[in-house]
Amino acid sequence: MSNFWQQFPRPFFVLAPMADVTDMAFRQIICETGKPDVFYTEFVSCDGLCSEKGRPKLMLHLAFKKNERPIVAQFFGANPKNFYKCAQRAVELGFDGIDINMGCPAGKIVKHDCGAGLIRTPELAKEIIRETKRGAASAGRRMPVSIKTRIGYNKIITEEWISYLIEAEPDAIIIHGRTMKEMSKVPAHWDEIGKAGLLCRKAGIPVIGNGDVVSYAEGLEKAKQYDLDGIMVGRGIFRNPWIFNPSIDPATKTPQEKIELLKKHMGLFIELWGDPSTSSGQAKNFDVMKKFFKIYISGFDGAKELRTKLMQAKNEEEFTKILSE
Ligand SMILES: Cc1cc2nc3c(=O)[nH]c(=O)nc-3n(C[C@H](O)[C@H](O)[C@H](O)COP(=O)(O)O)c2cc1C
Repeated sequence: MSNFWQQFPRPFFVLAPMADVTDMAFRQIICETGKPDVFYTEFVSCDGLCSEKGRPKLMLHLAFKKNERPIVAQFFGANPKNFYKCAQRAVELGFDGIDINMGCPAGKIVKHDCGAGLIRTPELAKEIIRETKRGAASAGRRMPVSIKTRIGYNKIITEEWISYLIEAEPDAIIIHGRTMKEMSKVPAHWDEIGKAGLLCRKAGIPVIGNGDVVSYAEGLEKAKQYDLDGIMVGRGIFRNPWIFNPSIDPATKTPQEKIELLKKHMGLFIELWGDPSTSSGQAKNFDVMKKFFKIYISGFDGAKELRTKLMQAKNEEEFTKILSE
């Protein structure tokens, strides 16, 4: 299996992994509005995927379609053996890459040494990289293993931490320019991303910067200024779902076009996760879909009122009824 991280023209763009956002339904919409060079799944628990009970639901989080390639499966956990197993499974499922989450700051995650907690336990982090690489090399193929991380835990230790990760020879490093403690509360430290970039470049490891990028032009500028291979965009997609398609000005999109896109997204969401009003129920809460309403229902007269009404919907039927009214 080739290392796709090495193959794009520079700089390339990546849609950030976002829990309850970047599932197959949303990625299908983004394939239509403007596809990034790389997609990520939402993060998936390694321990959950390795348990009989957790697996069926988590497999839905790992669902993808061919038009989303190259796509990376992102995992979080703290058990190297389970990373080994999940990497093997990611190969079987046909992913193009696997990413280790070393950046999630949520208390319930770091408490168990997962996510950004691994910055505190560097030896465990290294063992996890080793086991993931071993699992990713199963079946005679070697799937690239990347790391998405931050610039420190309680304080900025960019050079120390990134140098340490480089020793484990990952295939790419994605740097979110904040510490765990900073959560998303301060502007990303792009100068620190630049420092990390320098180290990665010397080691021949592709480096992707992440934090607060809200437009394609800004991404290009940051990549140039800090000499990076790629840019990862997270929340910027909420402001502009056409962000990866710089030829489109979202202001030119009509309300009807936006509403059609939302309807399509809703259909894909229900197809993937089920409808709360059916007997089989739903694998993801219907309310998760509501955080997307603002993406589509904004920038036109009456948008706010329509959104307020749509927020009352409890299932697809009610949603459709409100829209038709
Ligand atoms: C709703 C939400 C969910 C997120 N889920 C994940 C995740 O599953 N895995 C991950 O590595 N980062 C996750 N992140 C962090 C983003 O990938 C990204 O690093 C962060 O939002 C900073 O980039 P931005 O400023 O472009 O949004 C999440 C962020 C948001 C806002």
